[in-house]
Amino acid sequence: MSDYRVTAISEINASFRVPGDKSMSHRAAILGGLSDGTCLIRNFLPSEDCVNTLNAMRALGAAYDVIEELPGFGPLVLRLHGRSMKLSAPAAPIDCGNSGTGMRLLAGLLAGQEFSSELFGDESLSSRPMGRVTIPLAEMGANIETRGGKPGCAPLFIHPAKLRPIHYQMPVASAQVKSAVLLAGMFAEGTTTVVQPADTRDHTERMLAGFGVPTTREGQSISLVGGQVPKAMDFTVPGDISSAAFWLVAAAVRPGSRLVLKDVGLNPTRTAIIDVLKRMGAEINVTVSDDRGEPIGDIEVRGAKLTGTTIREAEVPNLIDEIPVIAVAAATADGPTSIRNARELRVKETDRIATVVGNLRAMGAEVAEFDDGMEVTGGASLHGAVIESHGDHRIAMAFAIAGLSASGETIIRNTACVNTSYPGFAHQLAAIMRGAGAPEDFALPTISHS
Ligand code: S3P
Repeated sequence: MSDYRVTAISEINASFRVPGDKSMSHRAAILGGLSDGTCLIRNFLPSEDCVNTLNAMRALGAAYDVIEELPGFGPLVLRLHGRSMKLSAPAAPIDCGNSGTGMRLLAGLLAGQEFSSELFGDESLSSRPMGRVTIPLAEMGANIETRGGKPGCAPLFIHPAKLRPIHYQMPVASAQVKSAVLLAGMFAEGTTTVVQPADTRDHTERMLAGFGVPTTREGQSISLVGGQVPKAMDFTVPGDISSAAFWLVAAAVRPGSRLVLKDVGLNPTRTAIIDVLKRMGAEINVTVSDDRGEPIGDIEVRGAKLTGTTIREAEVPNLIDEIPVIAVAAATADGPTSIRNARELRVKETDRIATVVGNLRAMGAEVAEFDDGMEVTGGASLHGAVIESHGDHRIAMAFAIAGLSASGETIIRNTACVNTSYPGFAHQLAAIMRGAGAPEDFALPTISHS
């Protein structure tokens, strides 16, 4: 199993790009595969999670041609041939790997088909709650069995069903649940409505609109009329702000640093990481280059001595994936940082409250653990340690960033999981540790097939 060996750096002065957005790549694969023609998708995230979703769509009849690839990972630019909403039965069970997004969105897609299908995943995914999607889908008339060792967990056996639209009040603020119900609603006759308890990322709504299937929003209710066929379109996936977050923190905590990350997705339902780092004292400037559909632009951060902050309840869904690396920033900041109302962290790829608290303590930080979050005391002098990723990509990457601020050597064990979301992370980490600054130092070689 591969390890990272990380030692401290003093400053970052660099400008580069992070890979495509994970949430949008899943949705581009699904919506492109449902569309009425051929879609050119650029900057697709060639990570295991997204390639699994792309291959799921291929198994359902939506073939793709690779135009450019990241060797050893998967397609960066592809032509996806849509099926005009008419999917075919998969020949074998569909592997969702480690991806909760992949499995939950595909469950919504497959709930209303005329054929049976099976979705399975790895050990982590097989222990994550699927009832949050199977319950509303059952209300729509779906027939889904959760046959996991743990009740309500994958594998999912999805039987043929004819769906009816519902009006569903979601108990958790989850974009995956919202998206699963809306995707199922595309195959139901009439108007499906989901009501979210708080704002969640709205890529499904924005991308559906781009594909010519508008949703309507009133307050926290989002509605979609079933039976519409998405119109094929070309889509360029912006850089993933959740991947950018690791480097934003690495630069923000270092006075004298200046980092520019180019062409990052700036959807307002994802940018709370910027607000939090600003509140902690970092200087951040954002330049939006395109504000249609999914906004995109450059983020420039200048480092400072940070101070602790309180994460607001309404911010939590917006930065849920960034909390591990925010906790790392908080460990060395002056004063305490409070992260509460974040119980959802316990059902991510790992229990991220437990894994973050355990690893921060191993590096010398003081942290109090709560059922719904943590309070990080701040002001720690971190020391190197042997850190276990527990197979969770964001834990591996967050603690690699912690290692850049720690005395001695930090060894991150079991880092293969990083390929689920960030192919090339190790390459960029090595460039940062070498003090590289130019974009070429951060780019991975690609192969073109056109
Ligand atoms: C995602 C939604 C979030 C997020 C996940 C991606 C999505 O999960 O944590 O990484 O693409 O819809 P929840 O819907 O469980 O909050």
